[in-house]
Amino acid sequence: MEDQKQPGNISRVLVTGAAGFIGSHTCDRLLETGKTVMGIDDLSTGKLANLAGASGQDTFSFQQADVCDEPAIVDIFVDFQPDAVIHLAALVSVPIAENNPAENFRINVSGTQSVAQAAHLSGAERIVFASSAAVYGNSDALPLCEEEPVNPVNQYGMAKLEAENLLLGYEESHGLVTTCLRFFNVYGPRQDPSSPYSGVISIFAEHCRTGQAVTVYGDGHQSRDFIFVKDIARAVVASATNSTLSGGIYNLCSGKAKTLLQLLDALKEIYLDIPGPVFKEGRKGDIRHSLGDPAAAHAKLGFSTSTSFAEGIGELLASIQGQ
Ligand SMILES: NC(=O)c1ccc[n+]([C@@H]2O[C@H](COP(=O)([O-])OP(=O)(O)OC[C@H]3O[C@@H](n4cnc5c(N)ncnc54)[C@H](O)[C@@H]3O)[C@@H](O)[C@H]2O)c1
Repeated sequence: MEDQKQPGNISRVLVTGAAGFIGSHTCDRLLETGKTVMGIDDLSTGKLANLAGASGQDTFSFQQADVCDEPAIVDIFVDFQPDAVIHLAALVSVPIAENNPAENFRINVSGTQSVAQAAHLSGAERIVFASSAAVYGNSDALPLCEEEPVNPVNQYGMAKLEAENLLLGYEESHGLVTTCLRFFNVYGPRQDPSSPYSGVISIFAEHCRTGQAVTVYGDGHQSRDFIFVKDIARAVVASATNSTLSGGIYNLCSGKAKTLLQLLDALKEIYLDIPGPVFKEGRKGDIRHSLGDPAAAHAKLGFSTSTSFAEGIGELLASIQGQ
């Protein structure tokens, strides 16, 4: 460990939710950029296999821990002395959060409180938080920009909004530079297709790979703003490690809408004889259209996506071939 922290020099980064889908890509990206990384995760949905690449490197360490256990988290942070923290650990399933509001609050709000306190007590300069487009709810004002009023319509979105406010409060009272990144629909390798609550692209891709018909809830014309996980990891890492960037709230999105039927067409170009989709009644609470405005992240963070939809789908499918 370095004897003395040098303000503005971000070399040690702690990642919560490190063994998850986005967390593991974030660790890979941090290591590629020469950072010393500690990952923590309770392995509730994350897998150590996701960290296979990171674990072989001597600048990476991992601790299994629950972000809600504040004394343990504070000890880990104070011991590691991060310059920046990336907080990704969460209960990520909207339906599970809806049915277990207390658990959603415990992990997504109280867990964020523990992480903020540990970041503050360990002297971290910056924190980046994985927020969500769910904070906007069912807005018609597409594409959604950050000034749009927030109006979450489910427990998960409410907790993400509460966590954003909690962290911005830490910035106000303790100077912890806070960046809340509102992710839209993230997809790519390592997203777990076995969960019914996983991202739609992973579920569709897995069905196509195994020759099963996909289920489309509704007419298939509902649309999403899909963003590739390595683009997300690049933006998260830049926000955490570039000390010239001020904090704030930013959408992380592609700014391009794709319908579920367009997604299926892209998969059909690769899996030529997949059975036609099975249409079922639309699910209550599903948002019809989601589209973000990426302009603020571009202007203030210098971020733009670099992976086209075709490239991202290709990389995802290559990663699941032969499984
Ligand atoms: N995937 C998306 O499309 C998307 C969209 C918007 C926001 N997000 C947010 O991005 C973050 C990462 O999501 P993901 O898609 O990689 O999901 P994920 O489930 O793969 O990752 C979450 C990780 O957090 C860990 N975790 C859960 N509870 C924990 C706890 N109490 N203590 C320690 N670790 C805990 C899990 O084991 C898992 O590894 C989450 O905060 C999620 O809400 C994701």
